[in-house]
Amino acid sequence: MATVTGACALAIAAAGPSLALALAPLQATRRSGRWVRTVKLADLEEGVPRRVAVIDDRKDAWTIERGVELGSVWLVRRGDAVLAFSAVCPHLGCSVNAVATPDAKGGGGFACPCHTSAFDPAGKRTSGPSPRDLDALETKIEDGHVAVDFRRFRIGVEEKVET
Ligand code: FES
Repeated sequence: MATVTGACALAIAAAGPSLALALAPLQATRRSGRWVRTVKLADLEEGVPRRVAVIDDRKDAWTIERGVELGSVWLVRRGDAVLAFSAVCPHLGCSVNAVATPDAKGGGGFACPCHTSAFDPAGKRTSGPSPRDLDALETKIEDGHVAVDFRRFRIGVEEKVET
């Protein structure tokens, strides 16, 4: 076993530069944090969550894929500002839904269908196994559109750690 482990270590050490080159595209693809323009602010109803796809180019060291859906976020308009939350549940990564209200407009917070984690309209965890609140994202208004600083975070941990 020690011989096999040693041989593996030698192989990895010998492949160092080429291995790093081979992994470069993966590292470039995983890097998150980018401003992505989404819907028009005027198309968001005050206080009513709306799920939007985050669509942008996906780049790595050698290729660019145009118009790829990178994920989705929940947007909630608050006057001229917009709250944004990752749609990924911080527990184990299922997709959270907006909770319907009697007027069928939403605004009742968010819930995860997998293990019943629940979050209030501000994204704060209210029950269930999620180790933290929904992951809030920064937003800004650009030419009447909502831009989101799209990022991904580690699931299953208390701290909001970017991946
Ligand atoms: S993945 Fe959402 S509660 Fe488990």
